[in-house]
Amino acid sequence: SLKLAVVGGGSTYTPELVDGLARLRDTLPIAELVLIDPAVERLELIGALARRIFARQGHGAAVTTTLDLAAGVEGADAVLLQLRVGGQAARNEDETWPLECGCIGQETTGAGGLAKALRTVPVVLDIAEQVRRTSPDAWIVDFTNPVGIVTRALQSAGHRAVGLCNVAIGFQRKFAAHLGVAPELVRLDHVGLNHLTWERGVTLLDAPGAAGGREVLPELLDGFGPLIAEDLRLPLPLIRRLGVVPSYYLRYFYQHDAVVEELRTKGSRAAEVAEIERQLLALYADPTLDRKPDLLARRGGAFYSEAAVQLIGALLGTGSGTDVQVVNTRNDGVLPFLPDDAVIEVPAEVDARGVRPLPQRPVEPLYAGLIAAVTAYERLALEAALRGGRDRVFDALLAHPLVGQLDLADRLTDQLLAHNHAHLSWA
Ligand code: G6P
Ligand code: MN
Repeated sequence: SLKLAVVGGGSTYTPELVDGLARLRDTLPIAELVLIDPAVERLELIGALARRIFARQGHGAAVTTTLDLAAGVEGADAVLLQLRVGGQAARNEDETWPLECGCIGQETTGAGGLAKALRTVPVVLDIAEQVRRTSPDAWIVDFTNPVGIVTRALQSAGHRAVGLCNVAIGFQRKFAAHLGVAPELVRLDHVGLNHLTWERGVTLLDAPGAAGGREVLPELLDGFGPLIAEDLRLPLPLIRRLGVVPSYYLRYFYQHDAVVEELRTKGSRAAEVAEIERQLLALYADPTLDRKPDLLARRGGAFYSEAAVQLIGALLGTGSGTDVQVVNTRNDGVLPFLPDDAVIEVPAEVDARGVRPLPQRPVEPLYAGLIAAVTAYERLALEAALRGGRDRVFDALLAHPLVGQLDLADRLTDQLLAHNHAHLSWA
């Protein structure tokens, strides 16, 4: 009888996860779902809705809620981390102050992403220690951003952890829809770091899990190039010429200054999300609601429940044997130009024995350069998160390819520290 614990279970995203757990119960047949969250009112609201969703779909799993992390994770087979230190208010800061320096304001990319890493890593490591004390065999699945840095922190501290993001599964589902096939038949040749990835190929399989298959990225770009480019808000001629599909996070690099201009005149995504969340919570409070509302689709987490259920099902051995899934895990030579302990985002074989990233063909310099630079930044960001200190924050910013200049790194460091005092024990 499997027990899944969700840290940050009071998130407005949780009904999406619960819906996936109900629909995909054959892949991950849990008997108990524990939602853990310090925000007690929201937790009770979400817990009650989760019970109604399970009841409507005839899922027999028990849903429990608790503020007590130790009790909640005790005996769990898997622990999903989906927390946000400081909530949307802290995110709003990350998206705002970098703009004053002419830099991108984003929750995972650039200086805002560093601020989020500094706030988050110590909290996540404390949680992981608690998991290790009470459930040493549990898998920790990290959905908490910035996923690359947080997963590197967890793996470096010796935890049984893997990082998860929905960008890859989003591409898989979209490409499958374009091709008119089941998503299980689409395998991505996906490479890079979390929120810094490129699809270098798309293979259409003859059957789920089958070897071989046919490369279909060129025909996807021929037939659906304009749709794909519009979706990513990247220029179609670039995508066509490269023959590669960058993730939409690459826009923050390839069109940095244009995006800064755009963000300056527009409200923050955090403010938008806060409003969506306000409306969602009002809907969730309705005792007759027993499904995830359509409004939830306005969040960026599409398919996150499918990704999580597939991954945890494979790790716990309840899925369909060995599966290939895109995850964040230790490099260990897969990308030979990066240190072994870097965390990369690539397809991996996943099963009850663990996560084994698949070999990658050599990465073109156009992508490898950025990957290497951001990996170095992530290493310095982790140092800063673990040990604190102004110089470490400054070094991470100086190393970031979107910063790079002394004066800019200096100003951003001051801003970051000024806006995050309340969340950083050392600042
Ligand atoms: C995508 C990313 C997530 C991120 C989310 C933001 O799903 O992969 O890492 O958290 O977008 O969505 P939001 O609705 O919070 O802007
Ligand atoms: Mn993500």
